[in-house]
Amino acid sequence: MIHTNTTKNTFAITTPLYYVNDLPHIGSAYTTMASDAVARFQRLQGKDVLLITGTDEHGQKIQRTAETQGVDPQVHCDKIAAGFDVLWQKLNIQYDRFSRTTANRHQAIVKEFFMRVWDKSDIYLSQQQGWYCVSCEEFKEQRELLPGNRCSIHPNQEAEWRDEQNYFFRLSKYQKQLEELYQQRPDFIQPESRRNEVLSFVSQGLQDFSISRLNVDWGFPVPVDPSHTIYVWFDALLGYVTALLDPDSEATLDNALQKWWPINLHLIGKDILRFHAVYWPAMLMSASLPVTGQVFGHGFLTKDGQKMGKSLGNTLDPVELVDKYGADAIRYYFLKEIEFGRDGDFSETRFIDIVNADLANDLGNLLNRTLGMAKKYCQGIVPALTGSDISQVNPLLEIGLDLGSKVARAYESLAFSQACQKIFTLIRASNKFLDQQAPWSLYKQGKQQEVEQVLYTVLESVRLAAYLLSPIIPSISTEIYKQLGFAIDFSQKEHIFLAAPYVSHASWGVLPQNQKLGKPKPVFARLELT
Ligand code: MSP
Repeated sequence: MIHTNTTKNTFAITTPLYYVNDLPHIGSAYTTMASDAVARFQRLQGKDVLLITGTDEHGQKIQRTAETQGVDPQVHCDKIAAGFDVLWQKLNIQYDRFSRTTANRHQAIVKEFFMRVWDKSDIYLSQQQGWYCVSCEEFKEQRELLPGNRCSIHPNQEAEWRDEQNYFFRLSKYQKQLEELYQQRPDFIQPESRRNEVLSFVSQGLQDFSISRLNVDWGFPVPVDPSHTIYVWFDALLGYVTALLDPDSEATLDNALQKWWPINLHLIGKDILRFHAVYWPAMLMSASLPVTGQVFGHGFLTKDGQKMGKSLGNTLDPVELVDKYGADAIRYYFLKEIEFGRDGDFSETRFIDIVNADLANDLGNLLNRTLGMAKKYCQGIVPALTGSDISQVNPLLEIGLDLGSKVARAYESLAFSQACQKIFTLIRASNKFLDQQAPWSLYKQGKQQEVEQVLYTVLESVRLAAYLLSPIIPSISTEIYKQLGFAIDFSQKEHIFLAAPYVSHASWGVLPQNQKLGKPKPVFARLELT
């Protein structure tokens, strides 16, 4: 379960702050879509939500990228950061803060934090020797490297040998406190497999890590020694804190931490788990700050069963994908098809088959034909029934009654795929019910009351399904609600809780009797493989 604040009604969630060495890839889109679904679900629950995303703009990787392209690093960062925003708009991501680590206010936060840790005597100068992967921006143990000193995550790149004076953070001092944290809060790291990875890493004994660089200009100067710049990860993790500042408040730690701290959930990919589940809590402990709520490390995506990479020539451009197929289809595929936490695959044919089967056929057609019948047999209005007029042995009512709570539990555990499966049980049962009950022949037999019962039941089931799916496919859900006669837009984040709170709309029997139904039109046009 997600760590929620019991005393406060706030919910702060972060995506990673993405590197701006290149335009966003599908991995960044994946984490962001999942975070957006969580944020939307929490808003329906009435939480005051802050979804934080942003960009990680310092360090050697970005400096080199800008140099290679012959542009000023800040100009380069501005351009790529804007590209992220374009994608988030297209994917219907409702973020609240976009944190950029080159912002001036961020420098003030990093400086203040650094000095707190410095005053704790947790920073010291020493010699750093080791293999550095510039793409990971991380020192690697010899045993972690592939032959030829190549990093396993970036096998086409050699790690570089470093031997220089750096400032170090006393991570080793926090070994015991971290172990206590993992024991006392077993769900701090999720899923379980990632937690075990971290426990095993920590049990091998933690070593201090360097938090400054001597020959990298593109970073903030170390406050106590400007001949060094601050290591990009030390700087980037604090971007989460800077993001909490109100736009017009002064950049101090106190201001930043006032309302939203501790952040409830960091959603990340498995490759950056150590930073979030080991280094980051230790940094916070050193600064005498409460540790964040939970770190969830999701799996990696492959394409057609193969690792994606530029050198392999099989990258998946999220902008192209969303332009071609639309946001809801992409959001649905990745969140429904891949068990969150495990690795998963994208294949275009499978993608098309799934969204056509689920969204166009099972969901879209169901609504379309039921609305058509309601028009014909009930003058286009919701039959004058309420949930309590429906027989208790009705199969859809049986599924619908506790679906809201089951789906809530799935969302709370970030089990998006399970949430979808449970919702689609109702949709599939509705299709079956409609076929079995055959309201068209009931109508011919003059059984108007029965016709109305069947249609009410199915329309209400589609409504409930659309509501519960809204964190994942907000535009389709909005369209379904519209055709059912509601004026509710699931992307109106400031009003959605008042308009359609989970406590009422996730229950059975909400469709108001005599509500005028909208014009039936397909909510999801079938996709073709081109
Ligand atoms: N800048 C750091 C994060 C700093 S957070 C304070 C970073 N950025 S990143 O742009 O490289 O990574 C972005 C995210 O994409 C990570 O969560 C990473 O796990 C994820 N992915 C990168 N490739 C991926 C796949 N092939 N599949 C799924 N996610 C992947 O790391």
